[in-house]
Amino acid sequence: MPSGARKFLRYVLGDGKSLKLTEKLQRDVLEKPEARGITKINVWATKVTLDIIGIAAFGQDFDTLENSDDILAKTHDDVLKPTPAKMAIFGLMNFGLDWLMGLIPGGAVGQLENGTNEFSDEELVDQLRTLIAAGHETTSSSFTWVVYMLALNPEIQSRLREEIQRNILEDPLTDADQDLGGLLESLPLLNGVCNETLRYLPTVPLSMRVPNKDTTIVGQSIPKGTDIFIIPYTINRCKELWGPTACEVKPERWIDTETGRPNNTGGASSNYAIMTFLHGAHTCIGQSFAKVELRALVATFVRTFAVELAYPGKPVIPTGIITTKPEGGMWVKLKQVDG
Ligand code: HEM
Repeated sequence: MPSGARKFLRYVLGDGKSLKLTEKLQRDVLEKPEARGITKINVWATKVTLDIIGIAAFGQDFDTLENSDDILAKTHDDVLKPTPAKMAIFGLMNFGLDWLMGLIPGGAVGQLENGTNEFSDEELVDQLRTLIAAGHETTSSSFTWVVYMLALNPEIQSRLREEIQRNILEDPLTDADQDLGGLLESLPLLNGVCNETLRYLPTVPLSMRVPNKDTTIVGQSIPKGTDIFIIPYTINRCKELWGPTACEVKPERWIDTETGRPNNTGGASSNYAIMTFLHGAHTCIGQSFAKVELRALVATFVRTFAVELAYPGKPVIPTGIITTKPEGGMWVKLKQVDG
């Protein structure tokens, strides 16, 4: 890896933001007795991923981890917070019924429009192009779902921590000479946990396409102009594509049984079995970046904290307008890992 890229990775993901997240969680959650180790992890996930995309896309450190009143973080939070009114707007837009939006009470339309009024037009284009389309919120949700998955599976969590501690002995996350991205990519269980969560809980639950000419999909004829919903949530759990364990969380499916190394297929025979980032001309261009980012965040988090659900009896329901998030937030209880 060229040294510039390595430096960038180190700054953004190493001694920059992933470590800063753990320091903030230590200070603001663990060292405050009144918090009792309990926090809404999705709020922190949004801050850290916004800070990371800020540096990556703008060379600008928003530092929302420190500055909790940051206007950008608040705007994103307001715009993407799922409410019944915003779900209705999303539905109307998908069915070409935008003109009915004015009938929705509660000011949600204004909130969506006003959410961007803080910027000049030029800034607006930049901000939207990178921050909304480029999707820090997607990585934020993915990190939240990984934490959830680890909280539900303490045995996987312990094995993952052991893998990270065994491979990251000193503190290579802050070592400029270390190929950080390559190191994290080579860890089988880390890779498996991240990929399996991206499969099982895809953060973009559905998308839409409209063919501009008559076409077919698996032999079914589709006339030009038909609305086609692509639902990663369903495809990613399809038994015909993933076998009988499709609806189980199994990070091991991403580990080659013979070599013990990570694989990129999860055992599925087709690349199209996983639709988390979609495919084709409008596939996610940030896929590799998102995966590197997720691995770094998870590795740093897991080697520092043991995590469990704060309120285990309370069901966690995925909801959301554009990305899936846990309804009411993801409340977790953290403990410092010994050593
Ligand atoms: C886990 C994290 C992410 C997920 C699950 C994800 C998923 C997706 C999906 C499903 C699409 C296609 C949407 C559609 O056409 O309906 C998309 C598009 C896109 N993503 Fe991501 N994304 C993630 C992270 C990122 C990151 C980190 C960046 C930038 C650094 C990024 C940049 C983009 C861009 C620019 C597009 C638009 C591509 C186009 O329309 O040509 N994404 N993403």
